[in-house]
Amino acid sequence: MSRSLQRLLIAGAAGFIGSNFVRHLRRTRPEVEITVLDKLTYAGNLANLAEFDAGRGYRFVRGDICDAQVVDSLAAEVDAIVNFAAETHVDRSLMDPFAFIETDVRGTAVLCEAARKHGHEVFLLISTDEVYGDVREGRSKENDPFRPRSPYSASKAAAEHIATAYSESFGLPLLVTRSSNNYGSHQYPEKLVPVLITNAIDGLPLPLYKDGSAVRDYLFVEDNCRAIDHVLHDAPIGSVYNVGTGVETTGLNVAEAVLDIMGKPRSLIEFVADRPGHDYRYALDTSGITELGWEPQVTFAEGLERTVRWYEEHEKWWRPLKSGEYWEYYRRNYRPLVS
Ligand code: NAD
Ligand code: TYD
Repeated sequence: MSRSLQRLLIAGAAGFIGSNFVRHLRRTRPEVEITVLDKLTYAGNLANLAEFDAGRGYRFVRGDICDAQVVDSLAAEVDAIVNFAAETHVDRSLMDPFAFIETDVRGTAVLCEAARKHGHEVFLLISTDEVYGDVREGRSKENDPFRPRSPYSASKAAAEHIATAYSESFGLPLLVTRSSNNYGSHQYPEKLVPVLITNAIDGLPLPLYKDGSAVRDYLFVEDNCRAIDHVLHDAPIGSVYNVGTGVETTGLNVAEAVLDIMGKPRSLIEFVADRPGHDYRYALDTSGITELGWEPQVTFAEGLERTVRWYEEHEKWWRPLKSGEYWEYYRRNYRPLVS
């Protein structure tokens, strides 16, 4: 089974994963007509999409997924929606939960309503492994209960509940991916990997919460884009897929690997006060997506090396982002470790 989706509305594609996904699609399915809808928040960046020519099966619309009128008019012209649009950073969700509830929950509902009204073939919601909450033992399966613990993960869990309700009540043709932590090119320097790399380039301390022992599964963004493409086109409607590598990596492992790649001293590592409600570990059972025929192709060592080189070669991309509001956020977020 393979669906042929000729016209896609991709929401939130001026951000990290969405822009990598558009790049992936232009390469693998150049015939697909893509409309990007993005509000261009602090995390959205037109430079991420600069290489795509408007008018050749690609267009960009600046707008908010909470704006029902804009969403409705764009949804009328496509076969499917893929929703990446969200407020995405846990630390910011601790400072301003309502921005997350507005975009991640209400925005998803607005998209679901438009997809239902226009009889779309697919609605693909990009969700996260964080909906399962802190997993001290074992691996989360797709039918495990949600135990979100941050305003971010609670908003993403609520978005999934809304989309599922649309599927159950109105027949919305829903697909969901729940991936682990992505890293790669074009990631805004607030998430762990680009914070560490850009700080290391500047010789600044590499901040790790508490003792850097929290565990994540780091997935190279291009591997995730292949998984999303596969689910969008080949998965049975109504299915949900965990997407990850199965490899467990601590924050300290990441910081040491970044410094080793760059030939910088370990003394740049600085332990800082822990994130409130910090989820200690996420771990996914990925047998479902494996059975669908996907597996990761890029090891952490290779992906991290490629990512470090990308940031080294694209200072013009990230340096302007690390100014003004960014440092205000940074000062508010990082507090000294009190033992
Ligand atoms: P990002 O923060 O880099 O980008 C989010 C994009 O959404 C930005 O371009 C922003 O301008 C846009 N946006 C925000 N609010 C909007 C609104 N109201 N209307 C329209 N556009 C809006 O995020 P990302 O890291 O690329 O994540 C994309 C998706 O993947 C999110 O749904 C996130 O929850 C999910 N996810 C991310 C990761 C990860 O490691 N980054 C892991 C699992 C799941
Ligand atoms: P992050 O990239 O924010 O993703 P997540 O949504 O999974 O929390 O953080 C990844 C891990 O790294 C998480 O355990 C928190 C930790 N972390 C630090 O130690 N220092 C940092 O500066 C950041 C941003 C995260």
